[in-house]
Amino acid sequence: MSPASRTFESLRGEILRFLDTAIESHPGQAAPVQLISDEIARAKLPDPPPKPGRLPGCRHLDAALAMAEGGPMADLACAFAAFEPRMRWIRTEHYRESLGDDYMDNYCYTNLLGYDALIPHERVIVAFFIIGPGRHYPRHHHEAEEIYFPFGGDTLWSQNDEPPRERRAGEPIHNTPWLPHEMITRETPLFTFCFWISPGPIRLARLTD
Ligand SMILES: [Fe+2]
Repeated sequence: MSPASRTFESLRGEILRFLDTAIESHPGQAAPVQLISDEIARAKLPDPPPKPGRLPGCRHLDAALAMAEGGPMADLACAFAAFEPRMRWIRTEHYRESLGDDYMDNYCYTNLLGYDALIPHERVIVAFFIIGPGRHYPRHHHEAEEIYFPFGGDTLWSQNDEPPRERRAGEPIHNTPWLPHEMITRETPLFTFCFWISPGPIRLARLTD
């Protein structure tokens, strides 16, 4: 097995282990989590894999990984860190006009499955997502059902009209289709494992009132 395959299989194993635990701990989210688990289990690493690449927001990665240490998602963070040099980081470029260059330089994500991903998928996204400290990802929504599993940190998360609040590491934040949500980072970066399940071809998130 090549070094790329070995580190990928290690990451796949940790994701599947984490999702198994999540299904047991959060039966309310079992159906979407099981669907993602099945997609991860059957995903095939392309040969050759797509070209990797980082973005300015990746400078928050070390702090993000450090934040995950000792938490319930530490093993997943370690497996991701080992494979990360082979991933391509991206941004939702249409946000630049509304959120500005500074925001764009402080956030990014990398899709294991999905569009512009390690493994292309038309309806499912499995991603690792970072926003640097002191940022506001304003209220937005999307057609896809989404679950975030934060690695840790002091980010405030809001859904619909609820006041923003901290979430525990490893606890799911489940956004049903079109549910508006927002995130406010404070001292730590936001670092989350997340996925989307889209009813049709993936349509990117949009800011909303
Ligand atoms: Fe979202």
